[in-house]
Amino acid sequence: DWNAGNVIAEQIEKIRAQVGDARVISALSGGVDSAVSTALVHEAIGDQLTAVFVDHGLLRKGEREQVERDYVESTGVRLITVDAADTFLGHLAGVTDPEEKRKIIGREFIRSFEQVQRDLVAEAKAEGAPIKFLVQGTLYPDVVESGGGSGTANIKSHHNVGGLPDDLDFELIEPLRALFKDEVRAIGRELGIPEAIVGRQPFPGPGLGIRIVGEVTRERLDVLREADAIARAELTAAGLDGEIWQCPVVLLADVRSVGVQGDGRTYGHPIVLRPVSSEDAMTADWTRVPYDVLARISNKITNQVPEVNRVVLDVTSKPPGTIEWE
Ligand code: XMP
Repeated sequence: DWNAGNVIAEQIEKIRAQVGDARVISALSGGVDSAVSTALVHEAIGDQLTAVFVDHGLLRKGEREQVERDYVESTGVRLITVDAADTFLGHLAGVTDPEEKRKIIGREFIRSFEQVQRDLVAEAKAEGAPIKFLVQGTLYPDVVESGGGSGTANIKSHHNVGGLPDDLDFELIEPLRALFKDEVRAIGRELGIPEAIVGRQPFPGPGLGIRIVGEVTRERLDVLREADAIARAELTAAGLDGEIWQCPVVLLADVRSVGVQGDGRTYGHPIVLRPVSSEDAMTADWTRVPYDVLARISNKITNQVPEVNRVVLDVTSKPPGTIEWE
């Protein structure tokens, strides 16, 4: 029988054997996968681990604070935050192709870590322990969908697997590689990570960068961030977090439609709500969110976000649609 305690004990032993006295950097993204993989590695090797959180400017409202404050308080993990929004947005300027966005974001992630590695190297050297490893919160479905698990075709290059550059000079520690999401959550609870983090819905590494259809700009990110925060708050208030696996909120930045507000004609952008129910993200169905909840979300978004004049609902299962739009 599957047991979280056994998996933890097994992984701790494995991680200790793999790492020895070396130092480890962890890719903390704010999501449950990286939070749990980092806590697991911390459990195994304590302060040999430094967690690095890259603020790539593609985060949702409040996410940075949640990591810097709540996660650090609950785990005691040593954390360094990198302010990389300018760099990421600079590289994303003019880019609209989804795969290209994913590759750029994945590449810049690794570069940010390598920057931190250089910054930490002197300190580690003084203690005679080089930084050799990078923790990744890769799950089994990520491995399969990136073609790494079973030889299936590459559907999307997930930045934590397929998007890695060739010149990567870390060895990877991926303690969740054989696990599904519900198992990862069980392990997180067993490790004492607060429910607010362990129960979090999945959020892709490339963040809001793959939820803007079109070029990613600071202004568009601000629009999407507001709409996303409204949708999340309403779904939570309606008690739907258990039923909904995740709800991507997508800005169709290159689409405009005519609307009317007060006395004036508007020409704004649509926001797509993509609530899905799923067991493991490999397949999904669109969630039948009650109409009154959808109405509240739509009213609030169009009232509070001036650039958005239309809210639409995605009623496609996976397959044929993926969960994310890019
Ligand atoms: P799709 O869109 O392929 O998404 O149906 C399946 C699940 O994976 C998440 N996702 C990602 N997670 N890095 C991640 O860590 C990525 O590049 C990435 N792309 C998609 C998505 O949110 C869903 O839960």
